[in-house]
Amino acid sequence: MPTVQKIGVLTGGGDAPGLNAVIRAVVKSAHNRGIEVIGLEDSFDGLIYPDKSRKLTPRDVTGILRLGGTVLGTVNRGDPFAAPIVTPEGTFNYADRVMELFHRAGLDALVCIGGDGTLAISHEFSRRGIPLVGVPKTIDNDIVGTNSCFGFDSAVSFATDAIDRLHTTAEAHRRIMVVEVMGRYAGWIALHAGVAGGADVILMPEIPYDLEMVAQCIRDRDAWGARFSIVVIAEGARPKGGQVSLIEEASRGHVERLGGAAMTCAKELEARTGKEARYVVLGHLQRGGAPTSFDRTLATRFGSKAVDLIVSGDFGMMVANCPPDLVPVPLADVVGKTKTVPLDSDLVQAARALGVSFGD
Ligand code: F6P
Repeated sequence: MPTVQKIGVLTGGGDAPGLNAVIRAVVKSAHNRGIEVIGLEDSFDGLIYPDKSRKLTPRDVTGILRLGGTVLGTVNRGDPFAAPIVTPEGTFNYADRVMELFHRAGLDALVCIGGDGTLAISHEFSRRGIPLVGVPKTIDNDIVGTNSCFGFDSAVSFATDAIDRLHTTAEAHRRIMVVEVMGRYAGWIALHAGVAGGADVILMPEIPYDLEMVAQCIRDRDAWGARFSIVVIAEGARPKGGQVSLIEEASRGHVERLGGAAMTCAKELEARTGKEARYVVLGHLQRGGAPTSFDRTLATRFGSKAVDLIVSGDFGMMVANCPPDLVPVPLADVVGKTKTVPLDSDLVQAARALGVSFGD
């Protein structure tokens, strides 16, 4: 196996707390093995544009462990294989250009940190011959093959804090508060933050809801004297027989944008119960800020393991968390799939046992 001397690292897709912790772990652990690291900015664009890459030394990553965002920047657009790119040197097919410039840069391998989209793109480049390892990132926790992704714990922690705050104002005004959380087509954030925050109703994509059931749960709570209710709704939740709420349809190069579920839900519940309802959309606040200690630790382990896999020549793999170990999982087994909440999961059952309504 040829010795690895120089690797690139990039971050792609929506940001998530812990990206910098992975970058730091990659740089430090590679450096300690005599491997040079090149930071590629804005995902694979870092290979295309000469001013978008730079050498990263331990000194460059000192102090970034606790920072949200990514020092490399990221892009969250759809299929880079679809559109040609125009550079001062001419017009190129994006993928061909990435392949060419990867070799021209003298890189031996890449660490690609990203969610489903970036991992799918990475898988395609891996198939075309770029030696690389993927690291799973997403607040949505919807990547198959790994028990958890960094960013999820931080998002849940923030959403739980928000629900705690909404409890006090909901109780003071005897209102219904509807909180919309992210997660795309998986209900992990809604379920975990809903349970941790003591929500009365949790609506998630895996369980299409009936608003009459939700309204009845709220009336029942009023009947025994609670007089306020907290409803957590995932952005990807939908009513039985209805559609997911979209802000923007998918278009060439862009995935659809989810949003609006909480507003509709609050209006409907107000009409059905006669109680005042307000809604809050937590949005990108869930992706901002410092990673939790759990995410810092997981991200650090992921970064170090990614370098291990590169050194051992285990390419085309994603680092996966299979407690208590980190293991390589083929990217081919991961891409194009979504890990949703199993309906028989013990957390769903525990919530039901406590009387939480899922609107079904
Ligand atoms: O995948 C992470 C995520 O935050 C989703 O939960 C959300 O639907 C989406 O990204 C938002 O993306 P954007 O930053 O493009 O608005």
